[in-house]
Amino acid sequence: MKISRRGFVKSAGFGTAAGLIGGSTIISSPVFAQARSDHHAGVFDRGEIHLNQNESGRGPGPKTLEAIRKYTNYRVGRGYAPDFVPELQDTIASRFDVPRDHVLLASGSTWLLQASVRAYCSEDKPLVTAGPTFSTSEGTARQIGAPIKQIPLDKDAKLDLDAMVAVSRGAGLVYFCNPNNPSGTVHSPQAIDKAVRAVLAASPDTHVHLDEAYIDYADPAKMQTGHALTKEFKNVFITRSFSKAHALAGMRIGYALAQPETLREIRGSWGMGDVAMLSAVAALTAFEDVEHLEWEREENTRVRNFVVGALADLGYDTPESHTNHIFPNLKQPASNVRNLCSPHKVIVGRDFPPLQHTHCRISLGSMEEMQVAVDVFRKVLG
Ligand SMILES: Cc1ncc(COP(=O)(O)O)c(C=O)c1O
Repeated sequence: MKISRRGFVKSAGFGTAAGLIGGSTIISSPVFAQARSDHHAGVFDRGEIHLNQNESGRGPGPKTLEAIRKYTNYRVGRGYAPDFVPELQDTIASRFDVPRDHVLLASGSTWLLQASVRAYCSEDKPLVTAGPTFSTSEGTARQIGAPIKQIPLDKDAKLDLDAMVAVSRGAGLVYFCNPNNPSGTVHSPQAIDKAVRAVLAASPDTHVHLDEAYIDYADPAKMQTGHALTKEFKNVFITRSFSKAHALAGMRIGYALAQPETLREIRGSWGMGDVAMLSAVAALTAFEDVEHLEWEREENTRVRNFVVGALADLGYDTPESHTNHIFPNLKQPASNVRNLCSPHKVIVGRDFPPLQHTHCRISLGSMEEMQVAVDVFRKVLG
């Protein structure tokens, strides 16, 4: 299903008299009207180009939007045993060839990250993580008073797996974000396999978390799921998000894959949020629409090559990214870059210590958005 943006907007029903949701109250709200007309322009979501949250500039595929529209009906009044949640769980399980109890759904993978730190870390069971990496696990460890062993990225902005393994003896949890946020860098299945085995050989009670939130953007020749490790080792679990390549950040849905005992421990330690019926049907449709996912991956690669190339022309290097964000070395504090871009209504990423003095994370929006953003980068960074 290779469709043009114009075709996408048309088939998704934007701009029709019926509108996206069809409820007159929602349609007439100023926020909704603004969002729809901005989508038409292809840029400036509510007056700004948001390149600071790793969300989707393109939104979900047409089939997913259609499913949300179709199931927005009286059944949303029956949400305590929501339709589509068991189907989603079964569909994910069957894709990974595991029974249903090897899949745990949550209203966003953030809950799973928080819960796993609460399940496995404590005052005498440290979290091993990277710096910079996605910070929810670290933030949760801080909240519960667990020590944090943070290993800086290596010179290629990749996780320093050997150094992380070296400090993992006695740890409660080791967090490997692959692909890594914010650097976008990846490790091969062999490298992850070796690191996980080394952690568990030295420290059999430690748990290992493989965060694969961005896997659908990765080049399969360079990075693949570590799912086989969860089948072999009870102490290994994976989390995935529907917020990235499936473009459902606003629907709040993600999942974990692990052996049932591990999922019970994670679920038992913290709330998972209820998965809403519309989120489940959206996720189910997006998960099954592999053709659109492939289109999204190709489109993101096209956009990423364009932006990385433009920054290279300006003299800035970018670590090889396998995600919908990049982390270029702009040779100045990220706060400078934010201040330079924001008067032009282009909002880029926050500080990522310890690289906040040189690197700035830029999320990738649609091609239309990034063409505007690159013009701004040329103006302020050139
Ligand atoms: C690496 C990584 N993991 C997990 C998440 C959480 O995503 P969500 O709660 O939307 O599933 C994010 C969000 O940016 C992320 O970057």
